[in-house]
Amino acid sequence: MAANDNRHHDDVTGTDTTGHEWDGIRELDTPLPRWWLWVFYATIVWALGYAIAMPAVPLISSATPGVLGFTERGRVAAELKAVEESRAGLRARLAAASPSAARADSELLAFAQAGGRSAFAVNCSQCHGSGAEGRPGYPNLNDDDWLWGGTPEAIHDSIRFGIRSEHDEARSGDMPGFLTDEVLGRGQIDAVAEYVLSLSEGSTDATLAAAGKPLFAEHCTACHGDAGTGNKELGAPNLADAIWLHGADKAALARTIARGRKGVMPAWEGRLDEVTIKQLALYIHTLGGGE
Ligand code: HEC
Ligand code: HEC
Repeated sequence: MAANDNRHHDDVTGTDTTGHEWDGIRELDTPLPRWWLWVFYATIVWALGYAIAMPAVPLISSATPGVLGFTERGRVAAELKAVEESRAGLRARLAAASPSAARADSELLAFAQAGGRSAFAVNCSQCHGSGAEGRPGYPNLNDDDWLWGGTPEAIHDSIRFGIRSEHDEARSGDMPGFLTDEVLGRGQIDAVAEYVLSLSEGSTDATLAAAGKPLFAEHCTACHGDAGTGNKELGAPNLADAIWLHGADKAALARTIARGRKGVMPAWEGRLDEVTIKQLALYIHTLGGGE
């Protein structure tokens, strides 16, 4: 008996039934719309074509490559190449410009800041801190207190040649150890440390500070200046500004005066390319304290 023989017309919906019947329940004959079917067939054709053209079917250690030879890796490489090419012009201009000329050029400056920020995170943050805030022995690079100078050129030289590094042109100038060199005794060091504290109004013992004053004039002013305000040629810090490189308490000061300090900053010439060093100098110059 053909199914069609069982077909009915359903008065409620106004639709014919398919003729299938289960325990008196009949199935309405509502076929999928034509457009839907065609879209469905089209997706199947598309999927087949895609599987042929593009990498698709997983194999054991790779996948079918697809006749177009497309890879995500290749796309990323092409994009990186395009970015590199678009930067080549900026790199060449930055390489040719002096640090302060590049500082004055807003386009070069933006380029330098972006590159400098990432180069800093990789090469410098382990010593200077991720925000360049420094820590004892490692200067804060955000403030306008510079050991060796805060102009774009001076910062550039500090990075390029290093400080007390193995580079021939490294910045040099040591803080001698006055106890180790047997120039001053412990009592004298205590007095001169108290005097140094008094320069930034941190002294609590005026008599002891007064005793330290002539010692300072005799032994320290050659490098730190008559008023203790420092000398950037020698990397001798300003002792009157209450910003301390090696610690703020009197014990740290006495330790510095007794045994000396030789903070070492590596030279970056040869390790980083010229453009990156310039980017770093401009990045640091704009952190807040550039002169
Ligand atoms: C191994 C630790 C170390 C690393 C890494 C390091 N620095 Fe330094 N840096 C120092 C020390 C220590 C000093 C202070 C030297 C001194 O006492 O005069 C210094 C000083 C400086 C100064 C001079 C600051 C001033 O007040 O004149 C600049 C600028 C500077 N660093 C930038 C950088 C940059 C940029 C990098 C990354 C490319 C970097 N440093 C990586 C240790 C480091
Ligand atoms: C030959 C030059 C020279 C002479 C002389 C000298 N200093 Fe220094 N002093 C330096 C240098 C350079 C530094 C920085 C050392 C470093 O960065 O590692 C320094 C650092 C210091 C610091 C550490 C400052 C800080 O921010 O932590 C103190 C304190 C200090 N000197 C006090 C003295 C006193 C006191 C005398 C005299 C008894 C003296 N210095 C004599 C060159 C000198």
